[in-house]
Amino acid sequence: MMEGSPGPPLMTAAPASAPAAAAGYERGDWASAFRNVGVELDGVELSAARGSIPPELVGTLYRNGPGQLERGGQWVHHPFDGDGMITALRFDAGKATLRNRFVRTEGWLAEEEAGRFVYRGVFGTQKPGGPLANAFDLRLKNIANTHVVRLGDQLLALWEAAEPHALDPETLDTRGITLLDGVLKKGEAFSAHPRFDPGHHGAARMVTFGVKTGPSSTVRLMEFAAVDDPASGVRAGQLIAERRDSFKGFAFLHDFAITPNWAVFLQNAVAFNPLPFVMGQKGAAQCLASKPGEAGQFWLIPRPGSAAAANPKPIQVPAPEGFVFHHLNAFEDEATGALVVDSIFYDDFPSIGPETDFRTIDFDTIPAGRLQRCRINLEAARRGGASAAAAVTTEVLEERCCEFAMVNPHRQGLQARYAWMAVAGRERGNDPLQAIEKLDLVSGERQVWSAAPRGFVSEPVMVPRDATASEDAGWVLVPIWNSARCGSDLVVLNAADLSEQAVVELPLAIPYGLHGSWVAG
Ligand SMILES: [Fe+2]
Repeated sequence: MMEGSPGPPLMTAAPASAPAAAAGYERGDWASAFRNVGVELDGVELSAARGSIPPELVGTLYRNGPGQLERGGQWVHHPFDGDGMITALRFDAGKATLRNRFVRTEGWLAEEEAGRFVYRGVFGTQKPGGPLANAFDLRLKNIANTHVVRLGDQLLALWEAAEPHALDPETLDTRGITLLDGVLKKGEAFSAHPRFDPGHHGAARMVTFGVKTGPSSTVRLMEFAAVDDPASGVRAGQLIAERRDSFKGFAFLHDFAITPNWAVFLQNAVAFNPLPFVMGQKGAAQCLASKPGEAGQFWLIPRPGSAAAANPKPIQVPAPEGFVFHHLNAFEDEATGALVVDSIFYDDFPSIGPETDFRTIDFDTIPAGRLQRCRINLEAARRGGASAAAAVTTEVLEERCCEFAMVNPHRQGLQARYAWMAVAGRERGNDPLQAIEKLDLVSGERQVWSAAPRGFVSEPVMVPRDATASEDAGWVLVPIWNSARCGSDLVVLNAADLSEQAVVELPLAIPYGLHGSWVAG
């Protein structure tokens, strides 16, 4: 039990070896989260409905995700096409304060005024009027819905195919598209998956990338100062290093991983045929198709200024079969010299066809994510040819359907003992995410906290107690769709044993979210 906090846990974590419940959810409960967020709130003070908020938990949880899924009676084709809505929950002295705002993107403003969709969505949402009304409209609607991070004096609402939107961290007011002091060109892709280097090369950095793809793909790796450094005069938000590398082939790169020496990318084996998009039949992302029998590739790019950059050429090495959106972490194994990358693999690219309503999808027909470790022998990978083909060995770390995994942020890029992730309610098969798992990456021991049968989880965020405490000291903040009350909750778990500390009932109904981050203090 943590000092100064809660009484007895409200719900005890059960070992995963306990008998799994049968598929323990109702489809209607799961689908009831898909709705528009109808209000924007300001500074609403909240206390725990159950348990108590740990007073040592001081900072702000920012979350992003689709908040507008329907206009004029038309639903988005896929929730990923929903406009970005930011929620900020500030914790201090055992209380929480809530604020939420839609990002005032050009598209959101235009569609608010029109009362209907006036842009196509990347994941298949079409303007009213059928293919003729959509053909040759190749504008991208920057919906700013994927992630939200603090950089310098601004929040960045991220969407990977275009520039970030800057927001005021306190009011969440949209300042507008930012080119980050001239770092970006207008319209330049900027990943929604920055990684925060806790200090591999001195002060903390935000490492991220943009990818320009086509018959060949160029990755721009960028490293920004994450904190002010009075000694050097570098300010938080300033670009301090970058490089560009081109690779053959189309690339779909949603996430990446870092270590002190490497930026690690996995180029999935997918092809892109834009014709149905151009002709108004499909969204751009629906034109991605896996290439059966073809392997993806790891692209290992030496980070600027690192020891590995003495040999600056990137290393390319075949990856195991499967499709990856997200990585857990990567690290350099000192004992063997191997580069280790932990990722969530799917057997195939999960896609929703043009005729399918996302609210009726059959989970059994969609591949489930599993956490898999790839150990890359760098020496063999550098030799290329047959050596490279045998340079990667794999190990499944978690077969239970999982997503949204993270390590303690102080272990980003370093070997970590623990991972926290969202998992399905059942131990096998594909189901909605209803539980949180803490996985010991060394012993394989698991602990699970479940929101089933009527609760559904979004991405958990692990908040460390402090930089010097043990790796699992802290909290896990979990947004829940509570279908029993048709509202959203925020659950605070003890990161060490997943015991429930507090349930905060939000006066909001928020659809399943994408990514979020914690800003301490
Ligand atoms: Fe993501």
